[in-house]
Amino acid sequence: MKPLRLGVFASGRGSNFAAILAAIDGRRLNASVDVLISNDPAAGALETARARGVRAETVSSAGFDSRDAFVSRLTEVLRESGAGFIALAGYMKRVPPEVVALYPGRIVNIHPALLPAFGGKGMYGRHVHEAVIRQGCKVTGVTVHLVDEQYDRGPILAQRCVPVLPGDTAETLAGRVLETEHSLYPEVLQAFAEGRVRIRGGIAFIE
Ligand code: GRF
Repeated sequence: MKPLRLGVFASGRGSNFAAILAAIDGRRLNASVDVLISNDPAAGALETARARGVRAETVSSAGFDSRDAFVSRLTEVLRESGAGFIALAGYMKRVPPEVVALYPGRIVNIHPALLPAFGGKGMYGRHVHEAVIRQGCKVTGVTVHLVDEQYDRGPILAQRCVPVLPGDTAETLAGRVLETEHSLYPEVLQAFAEGRVRIRGGIAFIE
């Protein structure tokens, strides 16, 4: 099996990106990260990429005169890198439909809750965990799903539960969920690397 050639998109600190790199180092994930793309020049993920010798690019719609120019730069960076698969790791922007169309069934995202609950607009970062706690949920978790044109809506690839404990704050819960994210994301990517992902009738399965 050929290694999965990844483009990772991240807007923030990039702990999931770091977990992907660690899984590659530890030979739990047969992949290379060929480019890290961020919309935010201050993203910690860019620093991690540079420190690791991974090509790091800031591509922000704010830096272009037109949407078309932004999308063509994004696709150019991806094409030049040779990445054949995209992993969103805390990417706060919507992936342009043109890019989704170029990578059909080959873009995945990780979400810190059990979708379709606690997903969609406004459900990111601490907002997710606050909503879970406010609702009195006893379990939450992690979802890895395929990305299509809608927020948090593509076929679910894998989910893992995380308990909500009495006295949890958004921070303590986020920390527990994040640990699970760091193990689940590389596992799902490895399933793609091994060709174990099937989609039938809009439903995704890992064999
Ligand atoms: C994670 O909780 C991920 O599920 C969500 O954004 C967060 C990114 O965290 N999509 P990090 O930048 O990977 O540390």
